[in-house]
Amino acid sequence: MSTRTVIRGGLVVTAADELHADVLIEDGRVVALAAHGSDVAAGWTADRTLDATDRYVLPGGVDAHTHMELPFGGTSASDTFETGTRAAAWGGTTTIVDFAVQTVGQALREGLDTWYAKADGNCAIDYAFHMILSDVNEHTLKEMDWLVQEGITSFKLFMAYPGVFYSDDGRILRAMQRSADNGGLIMMHAENGIAIDVLVEQALARGETDPRYHGEVRKALLEAEATHRAIQLARVAGAPLYVVHVSAEEAVAEITTARDKGLPVFGETCPQYLFLSTDNLAEPGFEGAKYVCSTPLRPKEHQAALWRGLRTNDLQVVSTDHCPFCFTGQKELGRGDFSKIPNGLPGVENRMDLLHQAVVDGHISRRRWIEIACATPARMFGMYPQKGTIAPGADADIVIYDPHTTQTLSAATHHMNVDYSAYEGRTVTGQVETVLSRGETVIDRREYVGRAGHGTFVPRSTCQYLD
Ligand code: URP
Ligand code: ZN
Ligand code: ZN
Repeated sequence: MSTRTVIRGGLVVTAADELHADVLIEDGRVVALAAHGSDVAAGWTADRTLDATDRYVLPGGVDAHTHMELPFGGTSASDTFETGTRAAAWGGTTTIVDFAVQTVGQALREGLDTWYAKADGNCAIDYAFHMILSDVNEHTLKEMDWLVQEGITSFKLFMAYPGVFYSDDGRILRAMQRSADNGGLIMMHAENGIAIDVLVEQALARGETDPRYHGEVRKALLEAEATHRAIQLARVAGAPLYVVHVSAEEAVAEITTARDKGLPVFGETCPQYLFLSTDNLAEPGFEGAKYVCSTPLRPKEHQAALWRGLRTNDLQVVSTDHCPFCFTGQKELGRGDFSKIPNGLPGVENRMDLLHQAVVDGHISRRRWIEIACATPARMFGMYPQKGTIAPGADADIVIYDPHTTQTLSAATHHMNVDYSAYEGRTVTGQVETVLSRGETVIDRREYVGRAGHGTFVPRSTCQYLD
């Protein structure tokens, strides 16, 4: 039996438009938009009506960079697919793209099947996968083609973490050449990990063991150098390139230079680089461990370049790189040795709100907010217009957002399975009120009514941002 929902009275904000319109949803899809009070909208009958007066009606957020249950740094990220996708929904995100991992010696198939099993039946919202390549060889290169056919159309490579995920330039070039042929998009963790490991060893030998040294050894220049190298390798291969978690001004400059030449090079940054800094890493009493992630937080001065990059479209996407580790028992693994602190920050629940705060603060416009958090990640990773917009035919992944209320971010009230908030005590304007995923209510006026298993796997087409 078909179900019809109408959302009335809100301001519909997409990357393209702001419309005072009602939205008609049928069987999980958007059917039509019509101006408030128009004959068309007045004529709609529905099983339920949601009142969005004085609210924004937004496409659900698309977070293109999460790591639920990632085994990393001798432990595992503390959000499961169940807890992490529930928290995402609380924060107005209705699709995540998580990273399936191939470990060294494994086939991609084996790694991917492990991730299908972790997510299957557990997610509150829809999900897709990128594939992390840790072992590029003849077989893996063939598998890349098969994965693209299966809807896994992006592959992350690491110039960092020698001995774990690291690939040398030859392997990177081979993977890029393959992606140039099969339409896959290479995502790069751009830091010179070989040089960083030398600096880590030297810092520890000097007795520099506190979390703040994590930021000092992972130098901005080594992010910029790796970004430059990745861009040149992609040019040689004739492949597009997406640089993940860009944090350094000098790395933004490399991406800008490439884009000014007309190269298909894209950049993602994350809320932690926009709102936090090395001041957090230097917090006393091992508190800085809460802010250890890679690329690392940078001095505050880098933030202006990131905001500028987002405004000029030299950076196209804001994702979270959500990779939470509890302070107690997990971050603590690195007491006395910063290199043993598991790398990663929680944030999947906070992204839409922090970016709305950026609208309030004048860094970006309301439509740009939706573009970098919903529409472009969907297009970049082949899910548009099913995801990332409100238009006839799109999945009814919709957020009713109250832009006026204020909230204070805190571990005491968040829903992520982690014992601290990277934004503890920060007051932001705006809050998610109601969330629909394919027309089903997940959050109802700030009550969770979703269910594990509602979320389904989204097979993706190749990058649409090049179209
Ligand atoms: O610190 C981070 N970013 N942890 C997750 C793994 C990665 O490099 O994205
Ligand atoms: Zn990374
Ligand atoms: Zn990551």
